[in-house]
Amino acid sequence: VGFLGTERSIIQAPMAGSQGSALAIAVCEAGGLGSLPCAMLTVDAMRAEIVAIRAATDRPFNVNFFCHRAPAVDPARDAAWRAALAPYYRELGLDPDAAPAAASRAAFDERTVAALEEVGPPPVLSFHFGLPSEALVARVKGWGSAILSSATTVDEARWLEARGVDAVIAQGAEAGGHRGVFLTDPMASVATQVGTLALVAQVTRAVRVPVIAAGGIADARGVAAMTALGAAAVQVGTAFLRCPEATTSAVHRAALASDAARTTALTNLFSGRPARGIVNRLMRELGPTSPLAPAFPLASGALAALRAAAEKAGRGDFSPLWAGQDTSGCRDVPAAEIVAALVR
Ligand SMILES: Cc1cc2nc3c(=O)[nH]c(=O)nc-3n(C[C@H](O)[C@H](O)[C@H](O)COP(=O)(O)O)c2cc1C
Repeated sequence: VGFLGTERSIIQAPMAGSQGSALAIAVCEAGGLGSLPCAMLTVDAMRAEIVAIRAATDRPFNVNFFCHRAPAVDPARDAAWRAALAPYYRELGLDPDAAPAAASRAAFDERTVAALEEVGPPPVLSFHFGLPSEALVARVKGWGSAILSSATTVDEARWLEARGVDAVIAQGAEAGGHRGVFLTDPMASVATQVGTLALVAQVTRAVRVPVIAAGGIADARGVAAMTALGAAAVQVGTAFLRCPEATTSAVHRAALASDAARTTALTNLFSGRPARGIVNRLMRELGPTSPLAPAFPLASGALAALRAAAEKAGRGDFSPLWAGQDTSGCRDVPAAEIVAALVR
């Protein structure tokens, strides 16, 4: 038996906005640990997705949450951000003064815990951006569920171990999507992010709990390298993005399949926190990082209309095209084939 009751010690990374239960189910059935990202789901949608997973597989699965603190709204920064975006609004024939969409990412809270108790606790919960309050962590532990969380530094790994996580996900700088940074200012850390090799090597020495390697793992050789460094399992995201079971948008799939996928950068423009994505027009013209972007997750609101209009025209100019530094494992094949390629 592999890690956390799976056949294969492969965790499909939760990818909010790019997948739901279908990908998680496919990976569970292929012997990996499928994950359901909940950061962009309402509590009702989360419940329905968990019911769907249980109906389709009796294998263990992971349910993933963000646990950031809601930021104070800063009207001046908000206005500056909207002013920076106004020329794009005009170019696309949109009204720059229309009320922006609400920010689209929610944090784990009392309501989430109550809904999970009602639907039946998942076997594994993973967190990004630290952990929820001690009281909420204690409730989750009381269910007997395993708890995982991402660390981007040795200090974060030690902090998580001290608070009782069952395993630490060592998220190297190569990883696609948001950096899990939580002990230091996420923007200040952009220049100092540690790569997966150096991070996994150090974290496996620093903590006693199992370490899951994440970031830039695209094939079985990457898995072997991480195993050699002492990782108990790997967490792979980008390689699953073009699978038919994922909900990745058409512009995102096209970018992943193009030469542009070789050039990624950390950017805060799409959410307010650093995340790795394929360099696109907005990143080239305003960033890739900018002090104008409101704090996480508020930056996304004013971008929503631009993103929708451009995507309708087949362009990903204003979309977050999250991807890790190695997109070579990312293919238009069923998720079971990606799992097989990782264990081969
Ligand atoms: C499209 C995308 C969305 C992501 N969303 C989440 C998320 O919702 N929660 C989370 O914990 N990690 C998220 N991540 C980060 C992954 O957990 C993981 O660290 C990363 O995918 C590993 O690197 P790789 O993409 O090179 O395999 C996301 C990554 C990608 C590519």
